[in-house]
Amino acid sequence: MATSANRFVHRTNVIDRLGRTVVYAGELLRHPVYTRFLHWMVGIFFFLALLSGFGIYLPWIFRFFTPLFGGGATTRFLHPWFGVGFVIFFGLQALNWLGVMRWTPADSRWMKHIKEYVTRSDSVEAPETGFFNAGQKMQFWEIVCGCIAYVITGVIMWFPEIFGRILVAISYVVHDMSALIMLFGIFFHVYLSTFGEPGTTQAMTRGTVSEAWAWTHHPAWYHEITGRDPQQALKQAEAEMAARERAND
Ligand code: HEM
Repeated sequence: MATSANRFVHRTNVIDRLGRTVVYAGELLRHPVYTRFLHWMVGIFFFLALLSGFGIYLPWIFRFFTPLFGGGATTRFLHPWFGVGFVIFFGLQALNWLGVMRWTPADSRWMKHIKEYVTRSDSVEAPETGFFNAGQKMQFWEIVCGCIAYVITGVIMWFPEIFGRILVAISYVVHDMSALIMLFGIFFHVYLSTFGEPGTTQAMTRGTVSEAWAWTHHPAWYHEITGRDPQQALKQAEAEMAARERAND
């Protein structure tokens, strides 16, 4: 049976063979080359679509973006194609992550403790937290819904002569609202993946994470792939820290 651990390890598609992931002692494989390639393509097309979108829909505020794309007319021409790139790469990532993004009863329980997660009052995440936590899954499904909204409203706005004024006007509102909701989420995503939870960025650059990162943020996943107890790993790390502090006194 493919688990969240071995389903990635056994993948041998073309992209994975083009790159390399080096897992050092004390680290675990988190995202193989294919996943990382898709993630950064999604990121690039997201920001291209975002900047060109701001440039054409709010030109009185963001007109400095349009020269980046060769002027107003080319920005208007390129924006839908950036959107198509974003949706295609995210669609492939959605297929890639479908298994690990399924909602489970443990995710519903995680949601009840979201306050502790946001205020960081717990030193480690709930023991049931698997490959992705419920917050990550919610954001993933929000992006899936956003992509569906972009495709429907984007096509209507791209070919206004076919769909008529009323549908086009509604599409503008839905398209812009979807973009703002997604942007708000991505703002937190980028913060959490960089400064908010140190050690996370390397999951999407080198493809690995430290074991300490794994038992802190995804204890059930740590247990699944190492067979070791995350609580035991935490106690051991605390004991080692205390010993180091005593040695420094
Ligand atoms: C500079 C920008 C970005 C950085 C530094 C970044 C970083 C990361 C990292 C490190 C992970 C792995 C987290 C883990 O393994 O637990 C991740 C996952 C993910 N990224 Fe990004 N990302 C960026 C932009 C984006 C954009 C623009 C999108 C989509 C519009 C996106 C969508 C996702 C999704 C859906 C996941 C999986 C679930 C999650 O971790 O939230 N990312 N990202």
